[in-house]
Amino acid sequence: MKVGVVGAGTMGRGIGQVFAQAGHNVRIIDVSPDALNFARKDIANSLERLEKKGKIKETPEEIMKRIELLNSVESLEEMDMVIEAVFERLNIKQETLKSISSVVRDDTIIGSNTSSISIDVLSGSVKNRERFLGIHFFNPVPVMSLVEIVPSQSTSRDVLEKSRDILVSIGKDPVFSKNFPGFISNRILMPLIREAILTYEQGIASPADIDKTFRLGMNHPMGPLELADFIGLDVCYDIMEVLYRDFGEPSFKPPITLKNMVDGGYFGRKSGKGFYDYEVKK
Ligand code: CAA
Repeated sequence: MKVGVVGAGTMGRGIGQVFAQAGHNVRIIDVSPDALNFARKDIANSLERLEKKGKIKETPEEIMKRIELLNSVESLEEMDMVIEAVFERLNIKQETLKSISSVVRDDTIIGSNTSSISIDVLSGSVKNRERFLGIHFFNPVPVMSLVEIVPSQSTSRDVLEKSRDILVSIGKDPVFSKNFPGFISNRILMPLIREAILTYEQGIASPADIDKTFRLGMNHPMGPLELADFIGLDVCYDIMEVLYRDFGEPSFKPPITLKNMVDGGYFGRKSGKGFYDYEVKK
C-alpha cells in the first residue's frame, strides 16, 4: 500500500515507521523542515534499536528507503490510506483533514490519530465521511501494540473492517471504541494522571514516591507522573480540557499545577522539564 502520514511529531514518525517496517511505501508530511530532519534521525535510531534486538528482518537502511519525508499534502494524491497526526487542536486538525480530503482519491481511507477530539466533529471536514475514522496509536508506536479504532456515525462497516485488517497486518492489536470523549484509554488514564498531580499538589507525596507506588505496587512500567511527562504535559492538559468540557464533571478538570507547568513551557520530556528533568534530543 501507499500510506501517507501528516505530521512528523512523535506519533506521526512512529506511525510512518511501523507502516514502512511492514513493507508499505510511506510519505510523511510536515511543513517544518526541522521536524522532517529530526524525523529522519529519530526513525533511523528507533530502527537501529529494533535491529539490535533482532526485531526487524531488514536493515534500517532498507526500511528507510520506503519512507519519503515531504512538505506538502499535495503529494498524497495516490495514497491508499492517510493518517492525520498533527497537533491535538480542533482547528488545526479540521484544516489538515480538509486539505487531505481535497487531494486524495475517493476510495482513500482517512484516519485521525486524535486522542480525544470527537470523530463525528472531525468527520465534518472530509468529503467522504464513510471512509473516515479514528485510528489512535500509542507512544512509542513501534513498541506499543494497541490501537483504538473509533468510527463516526457515518463510517462504513467495510472501512472499519478493512482498517482493522490493515492494522493487524502491521502487527497491531486493535480495540473498538464508540466515539465518546477520551474513547477507552484516555477516559480512564487521564483521571489517574490527574489524581497523581493532585496528590503531589496537596503535598501528600513527592513525584518519585507517587511513581514508585505505581511501578512497584501495581507493576506499571512507568508511574503516572513519569507517564504524563512522557506523553507531554501540554497533550495531557489538552485531553483533560476536552474531557472536562464534554463530560462536564469536575473529576476531569485539569489541575492548576498542570496548567501552570504548561503555561511556563514545562511540557515534560520533550522540553527537558516536567515533573522530572531530562536531556533534550535534537
Ligand atoms: N523505538 C524502538 N524501540 C523502542 C523505543 C522506540 N522508540 N522505545 C523503547 N523501545 C524498546 C527498547 O529497545 C526495549 O526493547 P526490549 O524490550 O526488546 O529490550 C523496550 O522498548 C523497552 O525499552 P527500554 O529498555 O529502553 O526502556 P523501558 O524498559 O523503560 O521501556 C517504555 C520504555 C517502552 C516506554 C516503557 O517505559 C513503557 O511501556 N512505558 C509506558 C508507555 C505508555 O503507557 N504509553 C502509552 C502512553 S498513552 C498514549 O500514547 C496515548 C495518548 O493518547 C496519551
